[in-house]
Amino acid sequence: MSEKKKAQELECAAKGISRRSFLRDAGLAAAVPAVAPIALGGDASSPRRETGAGDGPERAGAECACPGEVELTVNGERYHCTVEPHWSLRQLLRDQVGYTSPKDWCGGQGACGSCTVIVDGRPVLSCLTLACECHGTVVETAEGIAKEKHPLVEAYIEHNAFQCGYCTPGFVCTAKALLDRNPNPTEADVRDALGGNLCRCGTYQQHPPAVIAAAEELRRDRSRS
Ligand code: FES
Ligand code: FES
Repeated sequence: MSEKKKAQELECAAKGISRRSFLRDAGLAAAVPAVAPIALGGDASSPRRETGAGDGPERAGAECACPGEVELTVNGERYHCTVEPHWSLRQLLRDQVGYTSPKDWCGGQGACGSCTVIVDGRPVLSCLTLACECHGTVVETAEGIAKEKHPLVEAYIEHNAFQCGYCTPGFVCTAKALLDRNPNPTEADVRDALGGNLCRCGTYQQHPPAVIAAAEELRRDRSRS
């Protein structure tokens, strides 16, 4: 590591948290349940870590912003935050911006999908995405999806697609990203997209009909407008 880089990181570590903008209600989360059932499946459209390496998905931001000034848009509002170089996007969203819907069920191991948010239109695991890589990105969380009254919210309620609700924000973000790129998904499409999201309460069978119902409602909305 160069001397300049070391100096930058030391400076960054010494700064600590500079501001906490404001707090919002999480909305779609509650307690931790008991049994881990079999997940829905999964493919390349399932949530993943943001990375700039190899054949994987594109990097969230063009450059790492270390020593730590990050500007990003979250749920339509612009934020300027100071971040530590090791912070995850999940930490930034929860501890600085105040959006608590990204959860941590697997200890930040990239195994559960409960921390999923949408970055520049794609579902990502916020626990494995560095905050400093998100400079200049547009982020959506479950709070934003609820705020815009997306049909997924009503469809999840109608189809009883959650019990304790802990996993629900991650599922909803993954489903929203799917519907944004595929307005007419099949059950197989939904199962593939949601394959990286786990639910201890075993609500898997309710998700495909809920997402397909939301897609139908979105198409009706578009035909009316
Ligand atoms: S907390 Fe991110 S995948 Fe589990
Ligand atoms: S973990 Fe309880 S609803 Fe999914």
